[in-house]
Amino acid sequence: MSNPAATADAPARAAELMEKIKDHTARVGVVGLGYVGLPFAVEKAKVGFRVLGFDRSAARVDQVNAGRNYIGDVRDQDLRDVVLRQGLLAATGDWDRLPEMDVVVICVPTPLTRNLTPDLQYIEAVTSELALRLRPGQLISLESTTYPGTTEEVMQPLLEASGLKEGRDFFLAFSPERVDPGNKRYSTRNTNKVVGASPGASLEAALAFYRQTILKVVPVSSARTAEMVKVFENTFRAVNIALVNELAMLCDRMGLDVWEVLDAAGTKPFGILTFYPGPGVGGHCIPLDPHYLEWKAREFNFNTRFIALAGEINRRMPEFVLEKAMRLLSDHGLGLRGARVLVLGVAYKKDVEDARESPSAEILHQLVRRGAAVSYHDPMVPRFQEHGHDLQSRPLTAQALEEADLVLILTDHTRVDYALVVAHARLLLDTRYATRGVEGGRGKAVLL
Ligand SMILES: NC(=O)c1ccc[n+]([C@@H]2O[C@H](COP(=O)([O-])OP(=O)(O)OC[C@H]3O[C@@H](n4cnc5c(N)ncnc54)[C@H](O)[C@@H]3O)[C@@H](O)[C@H]2O)c1
Repeated sequence: MSNPAATADAPARAAELMEKIKDHTARVGVVGLGYVGLPFAVEKAKVGFRVLGFDRSAARVDQVNAGRNYIGDVRDQDLRDVVLRQGLLAATGDWDRLPEMDVVVICVPTPLTRNLTPDLQYIEAVTSELALRLRPGQLISLESTTYPGTTEEVMQPLLEASGLKEGRDFFLAFSPERVDPGNKRYSTRNTNKVVGASPGASLEAALAFYRQTILKVVPVSSARTAEMVKVFENTFRAVNIALVNELAMLCDRMGLDVWEVLDAAGTKPFGILTFYPGPGVGGHCIPLDPHYLEWKAREFNFNTRFIALAGEINRRMPEFVLEKAMRLLSDHGLGLRGARVLVLGVAYKKDVEDARESPSAEILHQLVRRGAAVSYHDPMVPRFQEHGHDLQSRPLTAQALEEADLVLILTDHTRVDYALVVAHARLLLDTRYATRGVEGGRGKAVLL
């Protein structure tokens, strides 16, 4: 199909886009206003770009337009400033506004299906909407984590069905988001960003765009390379976490303190990187992304054995926590059935309000299944709806701690008063070593 809007004047089109990017007059569209998209949209607006967020959730669109924040990593004041005071950020659910954009950044979810295969329905849905409205001169950049090949094999053909050609009429890149929710030191701006696209106009335009807000941008030679970089980073974490989780289970059996082992090993000034064990992995990335690579590798008749093993070990951790909880209760003449268990922390990691894929869900569910009376406290997650349970966070008081037969720390939020926990818990199982440094902690808490 040929598109009448396409002309042969590709260099001029690229040059025009570069000018708009450099003087910040380029209109920026951000599709998917979640943990990745909203901070990104705010960051771009803060340097003067006019940003329009697209989301299929009407509630999110309304919240953004009212300047009401719902993402922990965004400062309330920053959102209010760019939306209400400067009018640089707005949101919409109207796809027909896509052609107004010079740059479109896609930050939609990439979950797994029930069979642990990639579920690209969100990327495909957005790309199809874009293809219907694509106009010459636009830069499209995918930020969602996915397997190597998605941008070139899935998005590019859909977009080129418009009759426009990548690298000549429109520009296409993949630039993985590396945001670490809750991290106070590294934000979007000071986290190096990898950008992959075909050499030439697509790569140049994408590099210029990201350089406007990010201190160091790292170019790679293709979108597929950048996609591999991102899944490798998350696989690296999944595998190293699995390694220390396995060590924790072995140390438990050998009567060794895994935390003491890790602290001492971490003093080696080279050749070691300390990871910590825990009740399992959670969130939208570590438990899911390696399976994207595992799935793609099969196309090449290749088994990614580290990924499979890491997934197996990490998924075993909730069961190990339960076993350890039962042992602790039994050492004190108690059983899980009828025991009152107070869970501290249901978010998947410290200082975030995100409970997606949290190992706490499985642990809490198994505790209930085995007859325990479970309640929880999490200062970041007021309500927890998982595995058919619907619980409200209860206040953390001396009485609540004393009433519990077992207090089980699953997330080490900074805001929790661990001195209070150590002082009043009767039995305490600490899967994160959150009680490190608390007076009396070593005598009271049983560690993972
Ligand atoms: N959360 C993280 O820490 C993190 C870090 C790095 C990378 N990522 C990756 O970034 C991507 C987005 O993750 P997230 O955590 O921001 O997800 P999220 O669920 O917080 O946000 C996704 C947003 O996209 C919207 N959306 C879904 N389908 C849509 C559609 N068809 N059209 C318009 N909007 C749509 C949703 O309503 C939601 O607001 C994923 O691929 C994820 O793996 C996430």
